[in-house]
Amino acid sequence: MNILVIGSGGREHAIAWKLALSPRVERVFAAPGNAGTAMEKKCVNIAPDVNLIEFAKKKECLTVVGPEAPLVQGIVERFREQGLPIVGPDKNAAQLEASKAFSKRFMEKYGVRCAKSRTFFDFDEANRSVKQHFSTRNVPLVIKADGLAAGKGVVVAETLIEAENAVSSFMKDEILGNAGKTLIIEDFLDGKEASILAAVSINDENGCIAPFVSARDHKRRFDGGMGPNTGGMGAIAPVPDFSPCVQADFQTSILEPTLKGLKQEGFDYRGFLFFGLMLKDDTCFLLEYNVRLGDPETQAVLPLMESDFAALCLAISDGTLGNFRLLWKKGAVCAPVAVSDGYPGKYHTGFPITIRAKLAQTGAKLFIAGADIRDGKLFTTGGRVLAVSAYGADLALARQNAADALSAVAFDGMDFRRDIGSE
Ligand code: AMP
Ligand code: GLY
Repeated sequence: MNILVIGSGGREHAIAWKLALSPRVERVFAAPGNAGTAMEKKCVNIAPDVNLIEFAKKKECLTVVGPEAPLVQGIVERFREQGLPIVGPDKNAAQLEASKAFSKRFMEKYGVRCAKSRTFFDFDEANRSVKQHFSTRNVPLVIKADGLAAGKGVVVAETLIEAENAVSSFMKDEILGNAGKTLIIEDFLDGKEASILAAVSINDENGCIAPFVSARDHKRRFDGGMGPNTGGMGAIAPVPDFSPCVQADFQTSILEPTLKGLKQEGFDYRGFLFFGLMLKDDTCFLLEYNVRLGDPETQAVLPLMESDFAALCLAISDGTLGNFRLLWKKGAVCAPVAVSDGYPGKYHTGFPITIRAKLAQTGAKLFIAGADIRDGKLFTTGGRVLAVSAYGADLALARQNAADALSAVAFDGMDFRRDIGSE
């Protein structure tokens, strides 16, 4: 079979790599892909101006969508109308990621455990609410823009002034445009975050959700969780504190009510679902849904998947996920991200990337996020440049392997967190 992977980041490199490992896959086409997919066996990047529907028809592809934007724009409906198989939720279900007000309503309607919240459409009302909160309680408040905001739509306000500034910049100054015209204001939850990626196949009241091994992103720029938020500085899988007890709680308090809701809402959801969780003692709260795989969680999780990923994607798309046995390797993966100095602020690009032979000894896999290939050489093009996905029999060994792997990679201004997976 042939597969078409849509997207151009580190997540899509990992998806294309894992699909290409399947003996049943002939070719993986990446649209537009990146330097990583260009170098992968059986993978070919296709030009940005190619009509994807015509291409998928001609090459008889199963299409796998990486990022949320095409899903929100309705790519799944357009492919299915043409009888083309595709992995992704329909446009209605994609609102679970595109609108936080929508996803909060869904969580509340179906009893998915989450932070208590209120939705505001009016500036004065939102302001009154934050004033009232800080006049009676001295705990932070979380202010969220409703729409897609590329990681810039959530403020954890410690003081009234911070909260008022956030409300004002979202609703009055419209720093996120329409995305911030509606706000969700919710209780602060203290705890540790974890992500569960899952395969979902729901169509006409039938179907199931198959969760993957747990993962943890590290969003802050510097060691110890300090500094500004980023697109993700590295991930581990599985998460040591996602104990069997937490897992059981996730199943009953988050997964089962979500499954019920997806069925009752009548979504055609044959794709991936990401649960962003806060763990507190042995209980989980849902912070957010994403309607895709996570980045960089995918780069840590897919190397642990023992099952054939292409077969899984087929089972999602044709509605046979319930019969699919999802198997995982024992051990752990640590996947730190190497970034350009200055990221997430201003940074320089165009530096050659050198990779020493020593990398092969660690067995680590490089996933490219922001690099170009010219005359067979890699050059940086982005803030997040690449991840090394290093396996170990346990997390400590995976971390050691990742450190060894990173010492074999170099480019001008390269930096990375040294504490991925240490807490
Ligand atoms: P979200 O896009 O809703 O996942 O929020 C982005 C980030 O903000 C999360 O990964 C958390 O670090 C933080 N966050 C969101 N909601 C809360 C909450 N209720 N309590 C504490 N932190 C939160
Ligand atoms: N790592 C968080 C996300 O993919 O949204």
